[in-house]
Amino acid sequence: MSEDANASVIQSWSSAEYVARWSKADGLAGLLELPWAMATFLVGRDRAPNLVVDVGSGPGTFLATVLTAYPDARGVWVDASPGMREEAENRLGPFSDRVTFIVEDAMNLPTIDVARDADVVLNSRVAHHFDHDGLVAFYCAAASLLKPDGWLVTLDHILPPGDWDQRYRRVLPLFAGPNAGKPTHPHYFPFPTMNDHLAAMSAAGLVDNDVAWRAFYTCLVMGRREINHLHPGKDPR
Ligand SMILES: C[S@@+](CC[C@H](N)C(=O)[O-])C[C@H]1O[C@@H](n2cnc3c(N)ncnc32)[C@H](O)[C@@H]1O
Repeated sequence: MSEDANASVIQSWSSAEYVARWSKADGLAGLLELPWAMATFLVGRDRAPNLVVDVGSGPGTFLATVLTAYPDARGVWVDASPGMREEAENRLGPFSDRVTFIVEDAMNLPTIDVARDADVVLNSRVAHHFDHDGLVAFYCAAASLLKPDGWLVTLDHILPPGDWDQRYRRVLPLFAGPNAGKPTHPHYFPFPTMNDHLAAMSAAGLVDNDVAWRAFYTCLVMGRREINHLHPGKDPR
């Protein structure tokens, strides 16, 4: 993705006034409670996570769900918008001793030392801002933070085939309020398709990828960083 386009996306989220308006009008959040909870319990089935990174975390609602379920886990809140940080510091107040706030572009994830060796990297409603190359770069950056076997969790809007996008957008307000499905901020690229996500995850070395939940054009996709099977126990980095 061009730096200009990425900067424009980030710019659109930067004002505190816009952030407050978006948060107030977020009709979808109720619908997303189920996939947020599903992901929370799926990532802890084998072992409780110690370190959870939420990229494009916004108000921090997804991260709060995970930290509530795992009282010993630490969280890293990452978002490019300073305005969102203020909003998140309020929302994540009860977890303040367990959360580190980093204002940073998602493409720079590998530079965030406190986020390394994460058990889980979450992202919710961010990846639809990336074009094809940006999506692959994003998954590579996110995967680089994960421990072997760690979880990558994406909840995002996709581009469905043919007429389905318009069909879904016409019906969605019945379930999620009158503003649902109407753009509230600029998008510079068509949303990635489900196949784009799965292909980009594979390209980033993620395995065991699956669509765990879907409603209309919003999907929960999960995958894991591969364990190095050739050298069991050896980290491939
Ligand atoms: C629609 S909000 C979603 C917030 C939250 N994850 C949720 O689902 O409630 C998108 C968030 O992504 C952030 N964002 C957009 N582009 C970003 C980028 N390149 N790097 C980091 N954050 C980004 C915005 O600042 C905003 O907080």
